[in-house]
Amino acid sequence: MAKLKVAVLISGRGSNLQALLDASAAADFPAEIVRVIANVPGAQGLAWAQRAGVAGEIIDNRSFSGRDAFDAALDAAIRAAGAEFVCLAGFMRLLTPGFTRAWENRLVNIHPSLLPSFKGLDTHRQALEAGVRLHGCTVHFVTADLDDGPIIVQAAVPVLDGDDEASLAARVLAAEHRVYPLALRLIGEGRVRVDGKRVRISGAADAVPPLIHPAG
Ligand code: GRF
Repeated sequence: MAKLKVAVLISGRGSNLQALLDASAAADFPAEIVRVIANVPGAQGLAWAQRAGVAGEIIDNRSFSGRDAFDAALDAAIRAAGAEFVCLAGFMRLLTPGFTRAWENRLVNIHPSLLPSFKGLDTHRQALEAGVRLHGCTVHFVTADLDDGPIIVQAAVPVLDGDDEASLAARVLAAEHRVYPLALRLIGEGRVRVDGKRVRISGAADAVPPLIHPAG
């Protein structure tokens, strides 16, 4: 079966991009990253793309008159690369409703919290302030509303008593690097279907034990 052609949009470090590139190096992975687009010149993630032999491109939002023009350039670049699906991986720009509509159900993001808790920025600080015992990350479809689209995969991690933002972020990030490739694999295998606010996944392995923290 033909692999799903994917563009990844980044703004910085690109560790999730790296996880997707690593996964897609496997011959049986059903998706192929055909283009990496950064809105920030010098974004570290561009180096990962180059190392993996994937074409990288900078589309600097500051050189556009507004969000519509920037999103139109993004859209054109994604299509020119032959991509049919888009992954946001630490992409720090809000996309216009026109863009999210054009890519409806073909545009996903990874967010460092268990949505719908802790939308927006500083999610690890929000989690510590709220005193939750479990925190985590979410891969979801992107809609016009921030961090609100149908949820595909989530991973939960414990919040430990000694945690600060950095230690919690590191634990969540390790989980991100597992769930983003998993979500893309499920999508590439054609197993993901959006049903209103919910996502149905065919043949999912459901036998996951409850994660209880503290365990005793
Ligand atoms: C990740 O925590 C991701 O969830 C959030 O931005 C961060 C990006 O990290 N959207 P990286 O650039 O993938 O290393």
